Amino acid sequence: MKEKLEQIRQEALKRIRESNSPDKLNEIRVAYLGKKGELTAVLKSMKEVSEAERPKFGQMVNETRAAIEELLKQAGTALETAAMNERLKHEVIDVTLPAKRPVPGHKHPNTIALEEVERIFIGLGYEVVSGPEIEEDYYNFEALNIPADHPAKDEQDTFYISGDFLLRTQTSSVQIREMQKGKLPIRMIAPGRVFRSDEVDATHSPCFHQIEGLVVDKKVTFADLKGTLDVFAKELFGENTKTKFRPHHFPFTEPSAEMDVSCFKCGGSGCRFCKGSGWIEILGCGMVHPRVLTMRGIDPEEYVGFAFGVGLERIALLKYEIDDMRLMYENDQRFLDQF
Ligand code: DAH
Repeated sequence: MKEKLEQIRQEALKRIRESNSPDKLNEIRVAYLGKKGELTAVLKSMKEVSEAERPKFGQMVNETRAAIEELLKQAGTALETAAMNERLKHEVIDVTLPAKRPVPGHKHPNTIALEEVERIFIGLGYEVVSGPEIEEDYYNFEALNIPADHPAKDEQDTFYISGDFLLRTQTSSVQIREMQKGKLPIRMIAPGRVFRSDEVDATHSPCFHQIEGLVVDKKVTFADLKGTLDVFAKELFGENTKTKFRPHHFPFTEPSAEMDVSCFKCGGSGCRFCKGSGWIEILGCGMVHPRVLTMRGIDPEEYVGFAFGVGLERIALLKYEIDDMRLMYENDQRFLDQF
């Protein structure tokens, strides 16, 4: 029996020495130590051994098992070390290479311009509010004194969702929602996305941003409107900026005006930027139409309001001298990195 065990040990040793992979080692483990392995078979023949010799016999089998296990372990470690050394020969880490920098996010020019506008109006005591982008036809048009058959409704080619709901064409709808809250006085700006069925070109996009402004209080005059927007223009484009108000028409304001600012590029003498006129159109504004106030239950004899609406992209394009609006929406990092 002793010879038999010694023979098994020698054989296993030989096979372990010849094996060159962890898989082979595992095969050997199964062949000798497994349930149907050679050592197990020897153990099973125990019953043929006399009772007196059994403990000694058992001890010998255990020693052989331990020896083979030890050999397998050593061989396994040797194989792992060899594999690691081989890998290290090929895997070279060049610690002198520059590290990959994380690319941090960046504010969009629209965001920078909006934060600037908000800063100015918050400084003047305005609250920043918002309204829904999916709006009721009533808030977008009728409540702003634009009846169903009004040509202004055609001008703002609209994305209708159903007969009563649409993607708002102007942030002016937020004026109505604020007045409806019933708290006076109001001093608010409402920035947000607006939508029109326009073809994309250098100056148009079906989705763009406006900032609406509304003040409703007692004894508000057109002079307050002019003074406020003049301060706004100077803060935004520089203290030498001049403003000019041209009569215009908007259904929800009376009187209405458009405000131009003196060209901040040439100072007003005329250049390519202002198309030679020295002035750049910047926003629409006016005194809130008494009918708009009345519809909201506000007495126009007691309260007066002024309102204005400015295109955010228009400001960003002017301020950063960007000549194509499409660049604002393409998310090209080479463009965005410049601001
Ligand atoms: N909502 C107008 C537009 O989209 C802009 C506007 C003009 C807003 C005059 C106003 C305003 O509040 O008083 O063309």
